[in-house]
Amino acid sequence: MVCLGNICRSPLAEGILRDKASKAGVDLEIDSAGTAAYHEGELPDRRSIAVAKKNGLDITNQRARQFKEEDLVYYDVIFAMDQSNYNNICRLTDNEVLKSKVDLILNKSYPNENIAVPDPYYGGDNGFDEVYSILDKACDVIINELI
Ligand code: 4NP
Repeated sequence: MVCLGNICRSPLAEGILRDKASKAGVDLEIDSAGTAAYHEGELPDRRSIAVAKKNGLDITNQRARQFKEEDLVYYDVIFAMDQSNYNNICRLTDNEVLKSKVDLILNKSYPNENIAVPDPYYGGDNGFDEVYSILDKACDVIINELI
């Protein structure tokens, strides 16, 4: 799960998918990262922690890290939150097979529409509720494809 800072959207996506995989008994290795290094080592944004908690998830074990080219090799599927994240990830390699692992996460719930998960960083708390709900639906689709 990849966004820009790895403190707002992708930590929620990681926490939500981890919880659904565990409840569905699907064995997945899940991680998140940001294309930028601004927040390296930090906890998720307090508003992401709060919305996760409100929905029964604890994401305070997560720490931000920057997405690396090796992640493209290691992971089978890479979900970008928006087109800018997608472009930043694909810029790390010339290898078309690696690039083909990358998709926008909302193409799971809205196929081929290339919709972005809105960046809630500069907005209010409502934006985090909206992001949670959007990611929850997308992660349901991801898990349902695996069970
Ligand atoms: P995220 O949100 O990409 O969902 O983690 C942001 C976090 C930090 C910044 C921008 C977006 N920032 O500019 O520091």
